[in-house]
Amino acid sequence: MPKKEKIQIAASILSADFSRLGEQVREALDAGIRWIHVDIMDGHFVPNLSMGPQVVRSLRPIADRFGSRLHVHLMIMEPDRYLADFVRAGANSVSVHVETCPHLHRTIQEIRRLGARSGVALNPATPLSTLEEILPELDFVLAMAVEPGFGGQEFIPSSLNKIGRLRLMLKERGLDRVLIAVDGGIHTQTASSVVKAGATVLVAGSAIFNDRTTVAENLRQLRSAIERPPVRTRR
Ligand code: DX5
Ligand code: ZN
Repeated sequence: MPKKEKIQIAASILSADFSRLGEQVREALDAGIRWIHVDIMDGHFVPNLSMGPQVVRSLRPIADRFGSRLHVHLMIMEPDRYLADFVRAGANSVSVHVETCPHLHRTIQEIRRLGARSGVALNPATPLSTLEEILPELDFVLAMAVEPGFGGQEFIPSSLNKIGRLRLMLKERGLDRVLIAVDGGIHTQTASSVVKAGATVLVAGSAIFNDRTTVAENLRQLRSAIERPPVRTRR
């Protein structure tokens, strides 16, 4: 398990109140977030539509004031068609789904050529073996712990085992520099187990942006949950 101080929380704006998106992102940045996660959906690869490069462009100046990274999670078919648009709009890193990329090596090289960090996202049922050849080229893996498409879904318990095996795969290959980001179902009851399994970045949406309390308070609770021993979860 990586050292606790290295664990980052990424705030997924999918669950934010879009009528005051800038304000909500600023609250997260004020509370120490340095990784803003932007979910892009096309209604084909996933059964939902979300946002485009304009949102990244609008958030870039706010993120810059805090030295924060903007990460774009592309849940779209033919992502190659949009890589340049998102990087030019200000994405620091881009992840594409392995399920959407027949020429994954070329796609990853293109993300790098454009000047962004590169990641590959994996649906819950997609085996880790699909990463074997590409792992050395990556900056991070985005392991989905829910089916992509919507915020607020239940964490899929078997993800823990998968994260553990990915951690082992990286270790065996001397690739510990590759970050393991876990996306979906992260909240105070799951965060600690996910870190224990080997995640380095926790992507959380509805646990950060909700009506229950402030963004700062939600983050405080999430951080203290990471420090606590894991709640037992069925594998
Ligand atoms: C789901 C998105 C996630 C989403 C996570 O398709 O990729 O980033 O915002 O939402 P929560 O944290 O609510 O599960
Ligand atoms: Zn996401």
